[in-house]
Amino acid sequence: MRLGVCYYPEHWPESLWEDDARRMKALGIEQVRIAEFAWSRIEPAPGEYDWAWLDRAIDVLGNAGLKVVMCTPTATPPKWLIDRHPDILPVDADGKPRGFGSRRHYDFSSPSYFEASRTICTAVAARYGKHPAVAYWQTDNEYGCHNTVVSYSPAAVARFREWLKARYATIDALNRAWGNVFWSMEYRSFDEIDAPVGTVTEANPSHRLDYRRFASDEVARYNRMQVDIIRAHSPGRPVAHNFMQLFTEFDHYKVAADLDVATWDSYPLGALDQQWFAPELKAQFLRTGHPDFATFNHDVYRGMSKLPFWVMEQQPGPVNWAQWNPAPLPGMVRLWSWEAFAHGAGCVSYFRWRQAPFAQEQMHAGLNTPDNRLDIGGHEAARVAEEIRAVAAAHADADAAVHAKVALVYDYEAKWLFEIHPQGADFHYPRFAFEYYSALRALGFDVDVIPASASLDGYALVVVPPLPVVPDDFAARVAASGAHVVFGPRSGSKTRDLQIPAQLPPGPLASLLPMRVWRVESLRPNIAERVHVDATTIEGHGRRWRDLIDVGSGSTLDVRARFADGHPAYVRHGSAHYFATLFDDRLTEQLFARIATEAGLAPRVLGDSLRVSRRGALTYVFNYGERVHAIDGVDAADFVIGSREVEPQGVAAYRTR
Ligand code: GAL
Repeated sequence: MRLGVCYYPEHWPESLWEDDARRMKALGIEQVRIAEFAWSRIEPAPGEYDWAWLDRAIDVLGNAGLKVVMCTPTATPPKWLIDRHPDILPVDADGKPRGFGSRRHYDFSSPSYFEASRTICTAVAARYGKHPAVAYWQTDNEYGCHNTVVSYSPAAVARFREWLKARYATIDALNRAWGNVFWSMEYRSFDEIDAPVGTVTEANPSHRLDYRRFASDEVARYNRMQVDIIRAHSPGRPVAHNFMQLFTEFDHYKVAADLDVATWDSYPLGALDQQWFAPELKAQFLRTGHPDFATFNHDVYRGMSKLPFWVMEQQPGPVNWAQWNPAPLPGMVRLWSWEAFAHGAGCVSYFRWRQAPFAQEQMHAGLNTPDNRLDIGGHEAARVAEEIRAVAAAHADADAAVHAKVALVYDYEAKWLFEIHPQGADFHYPRFAFEYYSALRALGFDVDVIPASASLDGYALVVVPPLPVVPDDFAARVAASGAHVVFGPRSGSKTRDLQIPAQLPPGPLASLLPMRVWRVESLRPNIAERVHVDATTIEGHGRRWRDLIDVGSGSTLDVRARFADGHPAYVRHGSAHYFATLFDDRLTEQLFARIATEAGLAPRVLGDSLRVSRRGALTYVFNYGERVHAIDGVDAADFVIGSREVEPQGVAAYRTR
């Protein structure tokens, strides 16, 4: 467990560097990420490299005893490169190139950019690959940020056709898979196929889904190119990328498969402002962030990281990019840092060392103010560094792996499919996945987030948010694991090609859930369908969606809850559970608690502002609320952080007995 910081030597006079490095070290920082946006300074003119300043910056950091996370600078191609190769610019759905003057102005499919990236990455990796201060690498910066995964350039379309050929082999197979007989959309050759934009009404959803899959594969291909170069020049140094919070535009599992460390950039207040949360929640958690938002991302990235995941960028104070940018309450930077460690992080790295007084992010806080005084976040980072030392001294296994008995399946294609073919305007997959996750966290569980292809062995409970395309072997893996599995509505509702399965949903889940979803309906946001749980007084509502289930005659399916009109709302068959709708939060939590108990787990109702996480020897408690929380039944001597009384914005950690 260690701390890091993001630093931009090129933004500051060289006379500050040594003092910066000395103060970082004194604060307890161990690693410094640099150079991800420095291309125009590394190669000011085509082929003319200026290494001298970067050599000196790395030496200053290394001499101070800091480890460098060296980045490839490809998120910001310089002006001269764009002028030479305008085809680098990504193209929007209206066919308009996106301009120079900010960042991420490149198309993953542009051959010129692929080559230019190869050249700059090779130059940087060859120069610093074996430098003693360079300990880690980061490829690029936040793939996909600012909506830059999908491009509609001629280069992208050309590569899409090749991708389709590899997938379908013959044009007849593609026509069948997409159902192109419908509306006379049949093609005679792959070369006739364009990007699915600019059509009179909606383009074929199978065509759109394949375009998204293709665009996602382009990100993985581009990243792999960079990783291969770094590995060739810098053997033994782990390679990372900094992913984004709740970002779903490419398949992160595929990109992470080529990395050593999955890292992500955590901005809990910016996220709260930007995401779907209701105004009351935005007000309640205005200066703390939602208690499950950062941890959801921690658990997502923990699952795909070979080494312990990192937070590559941690919000240190107010940000600049949300609509409204409140300041964190004192204590929150510390709380967020410990929350990351409690969820398995190897490093928390703050963004950034010092607030920049110029350009786009001048309103974004750093650990230091622009006049170089330590800000609140800086003081809290120093406290975390001290606490890390205390924890490590007391418990050698405080940085052990997290072991969860509950898993949540999280799938990127599901997001694209429901976005392309929603059937109900607000069928927003990441939100529903998050709501299930949040219900599990509110019951006190540690949760692994896993892909649909993962082994389910060792879990007592697996929760599957709406998963339209279910892998063929999923039912067999469920059966083999012995876990209880809860499926959200629409699970098994589509084939890989985005068609309705021949025997109707739940398609390949029929062996687990012998039933037939014969009709569906989507519901406006203001509609709530009453639901009653059989043989209990539990009631609640279904929202947004209803699967109408035919259980068949002589069925062995147990209907455990019904809608007011008698249709099943929740059915169980052995250890498989199926929700025919999205229940309100309270009912979701109640049902998860009941199923978890049946699965042999012990849920604990924590409410909306207290969260508990376990790692290694320690149990951590985080207080997102406004009142002191008293921990019962723990010896005072067992605490290594805090005490039995956890203040608002407070953290406690005690030895798990
Ligand atoms: C991240 C990005 C950083 C910086 C930061 C500001 O998305 O990687 O470069 O822009 O946001 O919050």
